[in-house]
Amino acid sequence: MTFNLTKDQIEIQQRARQIASTLVAENAVEVDKSEQYPWDNVKALTDAGFVGMTIPKEYGGPGRSFLEANLVVEEMAAYCGPTGRIAVEANMGAISAVMHYGTDFQKRLAAELVLAGDKPAICITEPDAGSAASQMTTRADKRGDKYVINGKKHWITGGGVSKLHLIFARVFDENNVELGIGGFLAIRGEADGLKLGAREPTMGLRGIPETELLFEDLEVPENMVLMPPSGFKRGFADLMNAYNSQRVGAGTVALGLAVGAYRNALEFAKEREQFGRPIAEFQGLQWMLADMSVQIEAARSLLHKAALSAGQNGSPFPDPTLAAQGKIFTSEMALKVTNDALQMFGARGYSRNYPMERLARDARMFTIGGGTAQILRTVVASRILEMKLPQTREGFLQMAEREASKKSLQAAE
Ligand code: FAD
Ligand code: COA
Repeated sequence: MTFNLTKDQIEIQQRARQIASTLVAENAVEVDKSEQYPWDNVKALTDAGFVGMTIPKEYGGPGRSFLEANLVVEEMAAYCGPTGRIAVEANMGAISAVMHYGTDFQKRLAAELVLAGDKPAICITEPDAGSAASQMTTRADKRGDKYVINGKKHWITGGGVSKLHLIFARVFDENNVELGIGGFLAIRGEADGLKLGAREPTMGLRGIPETELLFEDLEVPENMVLMPPSGFKRGFADLMNAYNSQRVGAGTVALGLAVGAYRNALEFAKEREQFGRPIAEFQGLQWMLADMSVQIEAARSLLHKAALSAGQNGSPFPDPTLAAQGKIFTSEMALKVTNDALQMFGARGYSRNYPMERLARDARMFTIGGGTAQILRTVVASRILEMKLPQTREGFLQMAEREASKKSLQAAE
């Protein structure tokens, strides 16, 4: 595995930096203030070929890798967190699930929407099923040649803006027998039962709406069922496997925010004078800057390694452990780096006339959304210990009972 970028990848990075440091940087304050979706930035990303980058050539995309898409994400997020997140959802998560699991019809449909600038919405979280996502209650009932979905999701990024929706739901056959969890595609404006709920007033990342979504007898024809490769029974595991790409992407937004804050701090430290000398001459601040650079380099290496793991070991998606490790480390690193960088600005750091408070507010999200830092530690622990770690009481008791009966059988032998 190599982290050296190819000439082509460096060109992507430079093109992304050019757009990010001009248009995206100019719009960043207004996007935060107005809380409006940055359509101008979306158009620039679309024109540059930075949405749908991971869509294969046969479906009209450039067939780029997750690593390449993440190069764009980092550049965007260094200037504007919401634009970084748009680059994630236009290249990873739902769109990558469709491109790997979908039928030819679904791939064509999704590619057409995304390549025209749509950032799909991924609908997993419910009011009573956040970390415990597998306990979702939204249900899809088979009725003839369609499924009828009822339920409620919340904190859906892009609610009211995204056209393509990938909805996770518990599937039941016509006899009310539960089959597992499946993915269902619906297009806003074309599906009557897909209703927009309230928008959350968020701390940061204000340029993208986070909303409730209500499904009221939402009819999804069979050709819009995103059938996981191992069927509904293991549908949740397959869909979450695809979601690992988005975890790497979310980590990369956090990385970009940290990079943006660090760059500002570096510049400010050289310009701002106190005691008759630039504050960069004070060792206390030199070490803060050095620590920031170390943390950023480490985070980037972890995320690139996770992105490059896609396609290895038989899975087209990033390795679940690497994706979780990358997101834990980077999301926590971004909290520290954005806060330390803000500190270096003194009172100016606390002012809305400077970007530091925005970067810190935006960074605050990433230990929460897309799997909290606590949940992701459990994911990592489960894999390094090679143990199932059920979090429900029943699951834990069943596991303990199984272990006890295994031991008594062994003792009897
Ligand atoms: P809870 O699960 O209620 O957790 C509360 C606290 O308990 C947390 O600190 C958590 O870490 C801890 N906790 C819970 N269980 C355990 C455990 N077993 N061990 C240790 N600690 C535990 N969801 C979508 O489906 N689509 C989206 O597009 C989307 N976008 C989002 C955008 C933003 C800005 C945010 C903030 C969230 C978004 N989410 C989205 C939802 C997000 O994925 C959930 O918030 C997240 O999974 C946590 O769920 P929760 O908020 O219900 O917290
Ligand atoms: N990648 C690959 N497989 C995954 C996975 C991932 N990210 N997350 C879960 N799975 C698999 C598990 O390995 C398990 O497979 P197995 O039966 O072969 O062991 C199966 O899915 C069920 O996972 P398990 O951990 O047993 O599920 P659980 O019912 O205890 O639920 C989760 C725990 C998965 C919901 C929790 O760890 C989680 O990820 N919560 C956060 C949800 C989230 O990220 N929401 C973001 C919304 S945008």
